[in-house]
Amino acid sequence: MEDSSSNWWREGVFYQIYPRSFADSNGDGNGDLQGILAHLDHLNDGTPNSLGVDAIWLSPIYPSPMHDLGYDVADYCDIHPMFGSLADFDALLQAAHQRGIRLLMDLVFNHTSDQHPWFQESRLSRHSPKRDWYIWRDPSPRGGAPNNWQSVFGGRAWEWDETNQQYYYHMFLPQQPDLNWRNPQVRQALFDVMRFWLERGVDGFRLDVVNAYFKDALFRDNPPRLGLRGYDRQKHLYDKDQPELLEVYAQMRQLLDSYGERMCVGEMLNGNPEMNARYCGDRKLNLAFDFNFTRQPWHPAAFQRAILRNEASLPPGGWPCYTLSNHDISRHLSRYGGRYPKERAKVAAAMLLTLRGTPFLYQGEEIGMRDGKIPYSMIQDPPGKRYYPFYKGRDPVRTPIAWDASPGGGFTTGKPWLPLNQDYRQVNVAAQRDDPDSVFSFYRKLIWLRKDCPALRRGAFEPLIQRPRDGLAYLRRSQEQTVLVALNFFALPATLRLEVDLSAQKWRTILGTHRARDEAVALEQTIWLAPHEVWIAEAN
Ligand code: GLC
Repeated sequence: MEDSSSNWWREGVFYQIYPRSFADSNGDGNGDLQGILAHLDHLNDGTPNSLGVDAIWLSPIYPSPMHDLGYDVADYCDIHPMFGSLADFDALLQAAHQRGIRLLMDLVFNHTSDQHPWFQESRLSRHSPKRDWYIWRDPSPRGGAPNNWQSVFGGRAWEWDETNQQYYYHMFLPQQPDLNWRNPQVRQALFDVMRFWLERGVDGFRLDVVNAYFKDALFRDNPPRLGLRGYDRQKHLYDKDQPELLEVYAQMRQLLDSYGERMCVGEMLNGNPEMNARYCGDRKLNLAFDFNFTRQPWHPAAFQRAILRNEASLPPGGWPCYTLSNHDISRHLSRYGGRYPKERAKVAAAMLLTLRGTPFLYQGEEIGMRDGKIPYSMIQDPPGKRYYPFYKGRDPVRTPIAWDASPGGGFTTGKPWLPLNQDYRQVNVAAQRDDPDSVFSFYRKLIWLRKDCPALRRGAFEPLIQRPRDGLAYLRRSQEQTVLVALNFFALPATLRLEVDLSAQKWRTILGTHRARDEAVALEQTIWLAPHEVWIAEAN
């Protein structure tokens, strides 16, 4: 069997922290590093009273003018004063490690802020030693932008610079110029950033839009396709997913491996399992989020198809990585909860935490947070401002966590930078901590169960229903254990008919929303489930 210590990133549960909205220690309305430190016990205090996560990923905490809320980095090797200092960071890392929590930094290497000294120098003149660190081009011979590339956030991706009469390329905001990965000095500088954090002791990285680092060397126009917004109306053949990526990933992996047990997880722009398969595995990235999974409607057949597609495309050394929510997409309870938010939160959590693969949770889902409502005047997110009211941006998914029902929700003693959700007096950590039936209690049980079950951490995934209609049923099977998971997705009782006969073994409940622990259930080829029932059992 494989050595589990080198596989912490395969078997552990990860938790994304959006630092500005996690916990504010100084009353300025913005979450900060000391706030995170003060709440580490929520994440893992070594007992099942806590969530029990194994690693945290911090969304960017670097100095930044915050045009893209920190994804516009002005210095990769320091901390934004809003979040604290490097000393606060070291204290947080140490405290996390003491609790057995590993820590990932978010590296935004596709672009910097236009305030980054590299860009400031680059834009000074056409002869600047750093000119080639960014993507500068003359106007097209016909005049105007060098080609038809569009910004993900809207508008064309080229910004005219009056001083030097050239355009620079920005995949996102004009305040986020793209780095030129074809320049070896740029690569060197970015690898030095990785070393800086590895030396400080971080356990890995989440790599922002990691498939966009290179653009076509010939800057060819993207071909058109049907779509609503500018960016979606092109096939992105030339502004991302270039072959040069693989060499960079191999170097990154080598660097990570040279530190032992460090890892990275990639965010792929417009990602899907086949794309992930190209970029992950041996001598490539450790993991990449399966965003196809997040795009499924609330139906067991849809999820099963997504899971099987992911499993089928895994390359050698590859490993699935699932998430339901993050700081960019609507929270899954807003997508799926409907009239049964609490029940569906549990079914979704049970699925996420019992699949074969590394689960990533997004802060607040453990208490069943849904998207907040942000009035237009309070919108911070640039695409939200641009496309309102058709698209309200990402602020609704970034509202602060409520720790209790007090006026600032225990998040802040000041005025929160984004409003707390309207339901925060019910949906908060304190309200759920001692309630055995709460969403938070269910997450805790699932995560601590996972720790105890080798089959859930590393076992094979075997679906038991070919065409699921009402719910999912699958086995997770490792050498030492077989676990059965049955989930009713809907509000009616369900009869799940299985492909196989399970009567040869006795099934003992290890976690359920309706059945008591240790209840033994005899099965043949049918499982009866109550509405929204989660049933997890072990074969003995
Ligand atoms: C990634 C981040 C997103 C950010 C964008 C530009 O998609 O997740 O929040 O706006 O990159 O850096």
